[in-house]
Amino acid sequence: MQWESRLSIGIKQFDEHHKELIRIIAELRNSKNSGESHVYLKNLLFELLSYTKYHFTAEERMMEKHHYPEFEKHKKEHVELTEQVEYFLDRYSLGKTDLDEEIFEFLKKWLFEHILETDKKMGEYLHIRGVE
Ligand SMILES: [Fe+2]
Repeated sequence: MQWESRLSIGIKQFDEHHKELIRIIAELRNSKNSGESHVYLKNLLFELLSYTKYHFTAEERMMEKHHYPEFEKHKKEHVELTEQVEYFLDRYSLGKTDLDEEIFEFLKKWLFEHILETDKKMGEYLHIRGVE
């Protein structure tokens, strides 16, 4: 899983955040494949959750600041995505699920779809208002 130029939403700060999210997911996958421990992988999942929250909050502050008309809808997606990662982390912590290919496909899908549809729309709006 790698950054691709088609993922750029035209807002430098958020492109950097998205790159970091992709980096953490790739690290998670590599660590899983190289046989890292459950505790180690759990910590990486926690890092992913923390960074996701930090990033979503940054986007939400920017949308509010610029009175983005689709703020509520966008925020709702953030809440749902955060809950899904939290739910997975909880189950993984309890040993009720494994980090299999399915979860990496899921993480990639949620991140890419959100960036390509929801974040791009926001990016266009912010760009017109002078945010770079
Ligand atoms: Fe977003």
